[in-house]
Amino acid sequence: MLPCHFGMEAVVKREVTDLGYDVSEVSDGRVSFLGDEEAVARANIFLRTPERVLIKIGSFPARDYDELFQGTREIPWEEYIPSDGKCWVAKASSVKSKLFSPSDIQRVMKKALALRLQEKYHFERLPETGASFPLRVSILKDQVVIGLDTTGESLHKRGYRKLAAKAPIAENLAAGMILLSPWKPDRILVDPFCGSGTIPIEAAMMAANIAPGMNRSYTAENWKHLVEKRHWYDSLEEANEMMDLSVDTDIQGYDLDNEMVTIARENAKLAGVEKLIHFQRRDIKDLSHPKKYGFLITNPPYGERLQDKKEMPELYRIIGERFRALDSWSLFLITSYEDAEADIGRKADKNRKIYNGMMKTYYYQFLGPRPPKAGRDRSERTGSG
Ligand SMILES: C[S@@+](CC[C@H](N)C(=O)[O-])C[C@H]1O[C@@H](n2cnc3c(N)ncnc32)[C@H](O)[C@@H]1O
Repeated sequence: MLPCHFGMEAVVKREVTDLGYDVSEVSDGRVSFLGDEEAVARANIFLRTPERVLIKIGSFPARDYDELFQGTREIPWEEYIPSDGKCWVAKASSVKSKLFSPSDIQRVMKKALALRLQEKYHFERLPETGASFPLRVSILKDQVVIGLDTTGESLHKRGYRKLAAKAPIAENLAAGMILLSPWKPDRILVDPFCGSGTIPIEAAMMAANIAPGMNRSYTAENWKHLVEKRHWYDSLEEANEMMDLSVDTDIQGYDLDNEMVTIARENAKLAGVEKLIHFQRRDIKDLSHPKKYGFLITNPPYGERLQDKKEMPELYRIIGERFRALDSWSLFLITSYEDAEADIGRKADKNRKIYNGMMKTYYYQFLGPRPPKAGRDRSERTGSG
């Protein structure tokens, strides 16, 4: 099971299919697929858009705490948790259900699973000195679904963003924005509000076929069973073989703030893609580009602080003006600013609601014309037009 941002399910689904697995279910904020042990390692290392990879342990109805206790106790925990394992409900969420208190759900389930393990292992008290087995539980319409977390720290933490902007976008959300657009590595991509560089860095990683999760660790790596060590090694080897840093790219990131540009460069270096991106200090009002058919993919300020709010109409008006001055470009913009379309001065061709945590944002898509096939080939050869 792959929890993801609400609104990103279709992209996660496509990624899973492209990785070679069959999607079994898509629901709000979650995509499920069928996979073996190797799939756990590969999903963690190769997927760009989910939050984490969970192994589905069980599902049962629970309308009260007795049912929750019994249902939890009936799960064969000993098949998953070794005698020294530390297992607990790290997160519980509930929607449209009778049981709604996360802390009570956590407490009751912990008690039930501990009791089962004590009986099976003949312990009076579980030692819990070994590896961690965190659970994530969701209850929807009184149906409990239990997932064993193989990931640990959320997958959006790729390891390259040591330095962040004031309002950085999650790496997996940035990747999802790019994957929702028709951008391909042979096309131009400009983020005029790049902040710490997340969108250009994610694009460059895609262009160079760099697996997003190859430079971090995972909870399941410490397990002695369930996912054999060789699957992690094999997946990393696969990731290393795929990587191609010699790719030609035309990716740029601009920001008004000099400090942001320095941070973005530093992050790109950590991600290993600094040669594939050009970062520069530039105000949106000076944005121009000589070439045609490029993409603006961006996350502009949205007036999060009250004093910034009054600057938004003018800022979005300038975005619209600069976009119109670019010949045959497309604009993809994520924001929670409600008047974005009105101030930009054009209705988006597509608009997708995406939840960034609890914050409702809109992903506006203003589509430019497709480049003529022959023209695209010629521009690739000459690097112009
Ligand atoms: C929401 S943040 C972008 C965060 C970025 N996506 C990241 O992941 O770090 C908006 C950025 O726009 C920049 N900015 C504000 N006004 C600008 C302007 N007039 N021209 C260019 N950049 C501007 C800010 O410095 C800030 O870094």
